[in-house]
Amino acid sequence: MVDPTEPVIVADQAVIDGLDYWRNLPIAQQPTWPSQESLSEVSRELATLPPLVFAGEADQLKSRLASAARGEAFLLQGGDCAETFAAATANQIRDRVKTILQMAVVLTYGASMPVIKMGRMAGQFAKPRSSDVETRANVTLPAYRGDMVNGYDFDERSRVADPSRLIRGYHTASSTLNLIRAFTQGGFADLRQVHSWNQGFARNPANVKYEHMAKEIDRAVKFMMACGADFEALKRTEFYISHEALLMDYERPLTRIDSRTGTPYDTSAHFLWIGERTRQLDGAHLDFLSRVRNPLGVKLGPSATPEEVRSLIEKLDPDREPGRLTFITRLGAPKVRELLPNLVKSVSETGASPLWVCDPMHGNGLTTPNGFKTRRFDDVVDEVKGFFEVHRSLGTHPGGIHIELTGDDVTECLGGSEQIDELTLETRYESLCDPRLNHMQSLELAFLIAEELAAR
Ligand code: PEP
Ligand code: CO
Repeated sequence: MVDPTEPVIVADQAVIDGLDYWRNLPIAQQPTWPSQESLSEVSRELATLPPLVFAGEADQLKSRLASAARGEAFLLQGGDCAETFAAATANQIRDRVKTILQMAVVLTYGASMPVIKMGRMAGQFAKPRSSDVETRANVTLPAYRGDMVNGYDFDERSRVADPSRLIRGYHTASSTLNLIRAFTQGGFADLRQVHSWNQGFARNPANVKYEHMAKEIDRAVKFMMACGADFEALKRTEFYISHEALLMDYERPLTRIDSRTGTPYDTSAHFLWIGERTRQLDGAHLDFLSRVRNPLGVKLGPSATPEEVRSLIEKLDPDREPGRLTFITRLGAPKVRELLPNLVKSVSETGASPLWVCDPMHGNGLTTPNGFKTRRFDDVVDEVKGFFEVHRSLGTHPGGIHIELTGDDVTECLGGSEQIDELTLETRYESLCDPRLNHMQSLELAFLIAEELAAR
């Protein structure tokens, strides 16, 4: 932890009341940096680097999320569990963006509804862990906490937390975001390219179904063009970035004062969420994030109580600002139908209308006998279905989906129409953290969600 008596680091020297109050509070899941001196140096450097996103973009996202909370749009948030520096290559970033664009097309077409596209990308480099240490064959070392903290290799040198990784994280986020902006603004995301997003992926049933839909979209676009419609709006797409706001030594120096409003924004991403392990009501994360103006998410696991959820609203969104607050529920397939109704009802009783998003990944983890951390595709689908059922029965809006995915043909989650089984997991398991849906499983899930949305 940084010495709380140190001067507040704010790039433009403005000092905002309370922005550093979190330093007095208990804080979970932070690394033990070996030297305060090098950490302070890194913080100072980060504070001088340009913002990654603008406050105006975060505001625009907030208004989009507000429309999703009203049931007029749907949020698609996806990406790696843990991004790595090594996987920040042009091809891998492109394939993740393509997968999200393809899923968004399936959802938009299937549900006739605008889809807000958001990557767990360009900053998802830090992970909370259930234990501070990891033991292998009698050797105990610090746990891997994400590329922005330490290395994955199981040796002492690699596992020491290294503050210079925060700077590398910033630059990797910056180049990732640059490429995302180029892909989504420079013609690649033009809806008339809907076929080409499918190219380069192995042929599979979900792919073929997508190809049929792309043909229909093509025909509709050509028809509209022949009618003289203006297609400027189809050439570019909005694409937002998000990550778990976990490492205060990254988030705080990247928080800047918006010159238009004089209020602080965390410019490391458009949208930040607070994880299941750091959402303590009296903790540092909640206090800090309550003071920045970005749209925020909070994960809600099975232990979340209606009282807690109401307190979260009071702390993070006392003014009930449309689009400010998103609850990302990750209750697990067996529990979603039992636990979600009480949470939703108790929120509705307060008059608040946050955006409700389903994370069907984090409540459905299991470890196979051969030692792989995995999830069953069927459980993922079942939690999504339960989420829709509950909202349908309560008359509230199922507003989005939050998933861990990759554009690569990995074998990390069981099932799907490729029927990945326990033995197949070891053929291409690449995640350093949680298992992701591969390209085909992601598309398959999109088709299923589109059906749910169409049936709303
Ligand atoms: C995650 O999103 O990777 C994660 C750790 O989730 P949760 O905080 O819900 O456990
Ligand atoms: Co995860």
